[in-house]
Amino acid sequence: MATNIAVLGAQWGDEGKGKIVDLLTPHFSAVARYQGGHNAGHTVYVNGTKFVLHLIPSGILHPGVTCIIGNGVVIDPQALFKEVDELARMGVDVDGRLLVSEKAHVILPYHRELDVLSEARRGERKIGTTSRGIGPAYEDKIGRRGIRICDVLGDRAALAEDVRENVHARNQIIKDSTLDWKPVFDQLVVYAERLRGWVGDVSLFLATAIRQDRRVMFEGAQATLLDIDHGTYPFVTSSNASIGGVCTGLGVPPRAIGGVLGVAKAYTTRVGEGPLPTELSDSLADRLRETGQEYGASTGRPRRCGWYDAVVVRYSARINGIDALALTKLDVLDGLPEVKICTGYRTANGDITEFPADLRTLDGAQPIYDTLPGWDTPTKGVTRYDALPRAAQRYIRRLEEASGVECGIVSTGSDRSETIVKPSSAVERWFAER
Ligand code: IMP
Repeated sequence: MATNIAVLGAQWGDEGKGKIVDLLTPHFSAVARYQGGHNAGHTVYVNGTKFVLHLIPSGILHPGVTCIIGNGVVIDPQALFKEVDELARMGVDVDGRLLVSEKAHVILPYHRELDVLSEARRGERKIGTTSRGIGPAYEDKIGRRGIRICDVLGDRAALAEDVRENVHARNQIIKDSTLDWKPVFDQLVVYAERLRGWVGDVSLFLATAIRQDRRVMFEGAQATLLDIDHGTYPFVTSSNASIGGVCTGLGVPPRAIGGVLGVAKAYTTRVGEGPLPTELSDSLADRLRETGQEYGASTGRPRRCGWYDAVVVRYSARINGIDALALTKLDVLDGLPEVKICTGYRTANGDITEFPADLRTLDGAQPIYDTLPGWDTPTKGVTRYDALPRAAQRYIRRLEEASGVECGIVSTGSDRSETIVKPSSAVERWFAER
């Protein structure tokens, strides 16, 4: 059987999954996104042209590849239409190549408002969400009052009843609110017409493709440390960004996943609140932010920046069974006199080397660093592993040891072409297959 690969984030998101998925797509017949929503922002540069994708898998930039949005994704139809229109404007036609799960839940217009309200209520303990209505849409799903794409396309009387019930539940949450269900229903009816042509049975499509030995890539959004179960709860997103989400979010069995590629930046960033043990607050943070252009692709927010945290990536490797890492943005570290890798945390109760469940453990914790020499010769644009400066190779080797997983890909710039596939790595073996 051809190897189907999952590509997912090993840190707090924004690792550069979009670039990696786009790069690998020519080896696959379909790319399937399994969770999250338009909170994600996947930036891809092709010959200098910038594409930002939120819901549609980054494979869409390759003609002939089917792009799938699974049941685990929450869909704001307006955001989806906007993305499709934007792609069309840039010469990318999605028709006949986009498949949306009939079981995916819809983000309703007031989910965004509930998201903002919930953040305001939390005050100082706010999550720092993208305010796209993601959390409230998943809340409705788990609360069994959500509205799915198949409900939007189905019987009108049943949809009217579902919307009425959902709006009623919302009015109970928001003080003195008397939102009318009818305009919400009318809008969904309009959306239905445009959605209809894209909707189908994703699980069936994937089972057929896999049986016929057509390769599938499973695309994650956000990342392991933002996973609702395994992330830095409550400072997480509301879905399973880690490997388990592939099965639940697409309706594929675990056996369908033949390999796992974890994407990690050569340093660490995070947007929103919550712990970031290696966070820097000095001019070095500014330097990483400016050189790496660390501003949110969805919200434009500046990202918090810090050194590479091997505790985090080792944890991700365990949770996801990562076979190889795609290490991105190595070039951002070019020219630094020294580079650091965090291998543990010094806490009030002693040193730890495993990521803790109770975030209070990290209060006041100091990272334990391995410090290595930096490199003067730029890695930017280098495409062969042995052409990397010695010190950069040493950094990668130490990072692999500390993370307990090898690098299969090293990215040395934002363009597709600025990439190294490491000789004899799992990635090279996967792609030698066909
Ligand atoms: P939400 O997903 O909008 O509810 O936000 C929850 C947390 O996940 C916040 O800290 C967001 O900044 C973070 N988050 C959501 N999507 C992304 C992403 O695509 N990249 C990085 N962080 C994200």
